[in-house]
Amino acid sequence: MTTCLITGANRGIGLELARHYAKNGATVLATARDPEAAADLAELKKLHPSLEIFALDVADKASIDRLAATLAGRPIHRLVVNAGVMGARGGIADAANTAKLWADVLAVNVTGVYFTVGAFAANVAAAGEGRIAIISSRMASSNAAAGSSYLYRASKAAAANLGVNFAVELKGKGIAVGVYHPGWVKTDMGGAGADIAPAVSAQGLAQRIEHLSLATTGVFEDFAGAAIAY
Ligand SMILES: NC(=O)c1ccc[n+]([C@@H]2O[C@H](COP(=O)([O-])OP(=O)(O)OC[C@H]3O[C@@H](n4cnc5c(N)ncnc54)[C@H](OP(=O)(O)O)[C@@H]3O)[C@@H](O)[C@H]2O)c1
Repeated sequence: MTTCLITGANRGIGLELARHYAKNGATVLATARDPEAAADLAELKKLHPSLEIFALDVADKASIDRLAATLAGRPIHRLVVNAGVMGARGGIADAANTAKLWADVLAVNVTGVYFTVGAFAANVAAAGEGRIAIISSRMASSNAAAGSSYLYRASKAAAANLGVNFAVELKGKGIAVGVYHPGWVKTDMGGAGADIAPAVSAQGLAQRIEHLSLATTGVFEDFAGAAIAY
């Protein structure tokens, strides 16, 4: 039985990943900042009683440590580091780009990724042939530079860089790490005008994660398998 831990699973792509893995028979460990308010996860749990919902704020190291203690010794076959936030979308003069916003977004998209992987790498190693997926973005790629959304791009580039470094360090523990662009997805973040439905993204991401191996560890690709330059 495969066990999957998904961060930010109460809405958007994370929720659809939880649905996808649960439908396919996995035991899903779904995290939400506020489990009491995670109505869609509660509905999903009615269909798939093995689904477990945990509190996790990835910007709070103590919250990560609490969940790591709760799950200590439990093998995790797939860790999907999905939780993320956007930040201001404008250019260098965008007044929304305050120092506080920079600190808050980096705490989720970069520091959160680092401590999440650090906290659960032992669980993934215990699973044998475990895999870690870092949900970054095509916007992280230097090839996609557009002179906008500086904070998001920088944070997702850092997350991708963490991913490729984790791939090097964790290979010896038998863990493969992939960095993924989920597509432009109709979620609160992607907006209604985005290209694809969350379920399409989730299915593609799950396929790519199954395709990931120690031979391909360190890949950066989109939900359909197209390579992306770091
Ligand atoms: N949508 C796109 O087109 C697109 C494109 C490229 C990459 N991505 C990436 O895909 C991932 C999922 O995006 P999405 O479109 O599903 O976004 P979304 O609908 O805005 O959902 C974001 C998720 O992250 C969670 N989250 C935010 N801050 C958190 C924190 N401090 N601790 C734990 N969870 C936190 C949110 O929880 P709350 O409900 O508590 O806020 C929510 O579950 C993100 O990493 C995003 O950058 C999305």
